[in-house]
Amino acid sequence: MVEFKTVRGMRDFLPEEAKIMRYIEDKARRVAELYGYKEIITPVLEPYELLAAKAGEEIRLRMYTFKDLGERMVAMRPEFTPSVARLVATTLRNEPKPFRLFCVGSLYRYDEPQQGRYREFWQSNFELMGSDKPEADAEIILLTNSLMTLVGLRNHTFKIGHVGVLRGVMSGEELDEKVQNGAMQLMDKKQYDDAFRLIEEAGSSSKCIATLRKLVKLRGGNLGIIEKMKQLVKNYEEALKATENLQQILKLVKASECKIEMTVEAGFARGLEYYTGIIFEVNVPEMDKALAGGGRYDRLIALFGGEPTPAVGVAHGIDRIMLAFQLQKTALKTKDERKTMIIPISEELNGEALKISQMLRDADISVEVEVTGRKVSKALEDANRKKMDYAIIVGEKELKEGSVVVRNLVKREQKIVKIKKIAETIKGQSG
Ligand code: HAM
Repeated sequence: MVEFKTVRGMRDFLPEEAKIMRYIEDKARRVAELYGYKEIITPVLEPYELLAAKAGEEIRLRMYTFKDLGERMVAMRPEFTPSVARLVATTLRNEPKPFRLFCVGSLYRYDEPQQGRYREFWQSNFELMGSDKPEADAEIILLTNSLMTLVGLRNHTFKIGHVGVLRGVMSGEELDEKVQNGAMQLMDKKQYDDAFRLIEEAGSSSKCIATLRKLVKLRGGNLGIIEKMKQLVKNYEEALKATENLQQILKLVKASECKIEMTVEAGFARGLEYYTGIIFEVNVPEMDKALAGGGRYDRLIALFGGEPTPAVGVAHGIDRIMLAFQLQKTALKTKDERKTMIIPISEELNGEALKISQMLRDADISVEVEVTGRKVSKALEDANRKKMDYAIIVGEKELKEGSVVVRNLVKREQKIVKIKKIAETIKGQSG
């Protein structure tokens, strides 16, 4: 027999890990409620063309793509944004804007597997569509900060840039979009010299290269950095407008007075090609990979045949948030639920045990029924190993009186309790 393993890059989540994953997902759902985002569920499989349109080389080449049995070119989604944009361009096109839409689920990219990088991973994704105003960009940053804080992460920082600044300088030199995209991809990988070479070969002036060289060195936590950026790009109208837009967004975030750490990097680029405005990522000091990434993309919905609809969004990498959570040894704050095992003494009492278990579940008590027919002493050992709080032993003698034995496994004491009173006893006792 072959011993089966998971496919490379795919993982199993055992109960402890699954619990943390779902905890983070719950916090993301809470953020969606707190900010008024409605959940939508979109397919894992989408037309290849939709996902490839503006994904950028990095992601496009790493998609799981195949022909289905009906000869359709399909791909497993590497991100949510194109699916949400498709919906807004089609089914939702006549609905009143703005839209605040939330999704959570698994994504697929043929990335090189390593810590924090998997071929199947999870995101919580927020899109705000129908506003080109800086308050929309500020909201996406603030809700991301809320999620990190709700999860209990510490020292997370936002790295912020604006694609309009770099692209504005390049457009000022009339560099076509293909060259710009290539340069942005290289800058995303921090291969600045290669990016400058590409721009130079495409015929740009030495003044443009010099401006870009200075820009990519500009970074800092102080908003004063923006003034320096403005100074640098003052002869490039589009780039200057982009810098002012960035300044407005950051002012709004500051005005919210929420606790947030931000650094501006003028040379910051992201792999996805649809961005047209602010872009950002979130990092923690314990990890070298981003926990979340997002930005403004004002042309994607029109590209999919919809009304021109400005949009901004973010995806939070649940796997990486989970890793940061573990590295920072953050405590899981879950409700402390009592766990109970119900053990029938003999086979004839199985039905009675099931009846009592249902009654307790109706009273919102979680119950495990002993289903392997083992002896009471063995079942009790198992209940202790699982750190359960109570065992209910269903025996002939007590049943005749309408009672069972309720054993408090923490205090190691037991008493006979009327069936009607079990829920009350369990809920009422501490420990
Ligand atoms: P992204 O930067 O490609 O953006 O991904 C967002 C986050 O997903 C990353 O910061 C990371 O935490 C997580 N992630 C990406 N790839 C992997 C992987 N191979 N393994 C584990 N985690 C990963 C987007 O996906 C955009 N759709 C975000 C967006 C929404 N922009 C506007 N709206």
